[in-house]
Amino acid sequence: MCGIVGYVGRERGQVLSTLENVPPAVEFADSSADEGGRHGALDVVMEGLRRLEYRGYDSAGVAVLTPSGIESRKKAGKLTNLVQELAAEPLPRSLTGIGHTRWATHGGPTDQNAHPHLADQGRLALIHNGIIENYAELKAELLAEGLTFISDTDTEVAAGLLGVIYRGLKDGGAKGDVLTLAMQQACQRLEGAFTLLAIHEDQPGVVTAGRRNSPLVVGLGDGENFLGSDVSGFIDFTRRAVELGQDQIVTITPDDVVITDFFGNPAEGTEFHVNWDAAAAEKGGYDSFMEKEIHDQPDAVGQTLLGRSDIKGNLVLDELRIDESILRSVDKIVVLACGTSAYAGQVAKYAIEHWCRIPTEVELSHEFRYRDPIVNEKTLVVAISQSGETMDTLMAVRYAREQGAKVVAICNTNGSTIPRESDAVLYTHAGPEIAVASTKAFLAQITAAYLLGLYLAQLRGNKFRDEIATVMEDLTEIPAKIQTVLDNADKIKQLGADMSEAKSVLFLGRHVGFPVAMEGALKLKELAYIHAEGFAAGELKHGPIALIEEGQPVVVVMPSSSARNSLHAKVVSNVQEIRARGAVTIVIAEEGDTSVEAYSEHVFYVPATPTLLAPLLTTVPLQIFALALASAKGYDVDQPRNLAKSVTVE
Ligand code: G6P
Repeated sequence: MCGIVGYVGRERGQVLSTLENVPPAVEFADSSADEGGRHGALDVVMEGLRRLEYRGYDSAGVAVLTPSGIESRKKAGKLTNLVQELAAEPLPRSLTGIGHTRWATHGGPTDQNAHPHLADQGRLALIHNGIIENYAELKAELLAEGLTFISDTDTEVAAGLLGVIYRGLKDGGAKGDVLTLAMQQACQRLEGAFTLLAIHEDQPGVVTAGRRNSPLVVGLGDGENFLGSDVSGFIDFTRRAVELGQDQIVTITPDDVVITDFFGNPAEGTEFHVNWDAAAAEKGGYDSFMEKEIHDQPDAVGQTLLGRSDIKGNLVLDELRIDESILRSVDKIVVLACGTSAYAGQVAKYAIEHWCRIPTEVELSHEFRYRDPIVNEKTLVVAISQSGETMDTLMAVRYAREQGAKVVAICNTNGSTIPRESDAVLYTHAGPEIAVASTKAFLAQITAAYLLGLYLAQLRGNKFRDEIATVMEDLTEIPAKIQTVLDNADKIKQLGADMSEAKSVLFLGRHVGFPVAMEGALKLKELAYIHAEGFAAGELKHGPIALIEEGQPVVVVMPSSSARNSLHAKVVSNVQEIRARGAVTIVIAEEGDTSVEAYSEHVFYVPATPTLLAPLLTTVPLQIFALALASAKGYDVDQPRNLAKSVTVE
């Protein structure tokens, strides 16, 4: 949550003074470039914010360094409000700038609480992502020193602190890159989670950042450098990026990137190449990112499956660098995740337990570490996160590793924190997911978790090579089957639109269909703001059936009639029970399962597929249903109210 961008560039041939008082530039420095600096700071920052808006859209702001000092514009509401503000009150061309898009934590979404916040008599501007936990204590200290605050934010306190430290250093005779020194000292005083970016009018061509537990990556340009919450903040300008560690300070100038710890000791970053381009993060002709991402799903699954077998037909997971003997000795798997990713974990549990015979628990990350869980060297933790930045999951990963568990991350975002702090990572190759409600990442996560399950089954001898090959073949057919679902989606789309007046929709599923039902309900809550609940069909009679009244829409994820006929029969009975009480049933069934027609108001068919793989198909109509229903209500499906894509606070 909160998107952050920073930019420095120089005019062609312009020479800027180099940094002093900080260790020499690391190998990413590009000082040989005497071209470059082509972009204006405002253009870069606004483009970055446009791409990062999914991280928070309560307010947005920018600050640039101009010959007459720092100038800032900020506005409550979506980025478009800031664009209008900039049109009314333009900013001069600049080569140093920062920008922020906010998801409010401390202080409501007002103009005043929007970032940047100024300090040192308006000579310093600062933006922040995270929560400063000791802000009240620091604020009292700064108030006692005579500072005043005009916002309700913890960020303004961090800005005030940085300003006071900067002034103290200057007054004490400090020379050179005092902003970086001040940032180091300020970060030493801060508790909680933060990424801070600052500029000062004394130091044109410099942006300094401090980072603890909140995301930040560096983009390397030619005569210009970038900072972003993730690579989409600068993907239009460069695909060379640097991953940072925790508790680091990074200072960028047009030709240098300098990384230290909070005490000024040189520190390392890792360069990586972003393997998708700006076009992948565009809507590509669809009305919304969500619609586009739903249609990206055949590719998301296909790409995640690519290159996973060697010539002998063995499954190989290159990124899984954990000693095989450790993986063989695992006696429990704990899947940790939040939101949609947790439902991917719940689906995967059925497959992993079936294939590997290893007891598998799925737990919400934020519940896990507060209940004294039993985790040790024989536990394999699988942390699933699209963004790789979800704070609850990151904290749970750290806790699990402290207890001796090995952690494999399943993640969609290169350079993010969770894979960096895990023992191994299995990347999903879904491409950038921009819409806040997750779709393609969910299918890619299930796919990756299945690969992990099959790999463990192979390694531990639970499955023969040909058995694994059969599942892999079935998986390979999934992208085309998803495409079939997409090609035949008109009916479910229409149904979603027709149900826009519904006050509540219930979802029922059984076996792997249960987490699918919960995911379908979550999509509807997130997008359409109506009551939606996913239930295990067998649980219906133990309570939820009391909710059924005349006209209540109920979506039923029907188990395969051919593969699971006993389960199928039970769910058919459940459907009859609710219909007898007035429910309007919408059934998602396997092609050929005509038996359900007698019991359903609406049936939507998906291609037949083995039971464990069915969620990769049955989820898709539920996504389309929620999208259509919310669109018919006129809601913004890409940026639903109160949510953020990447939740970087606990
Ligand atoms: C937020 C998003 C959800 C997402 C969840 C977990 O709540 O709004 O769409 O499923 O975070 O995110 P992650 O990046 O860890 O998968």
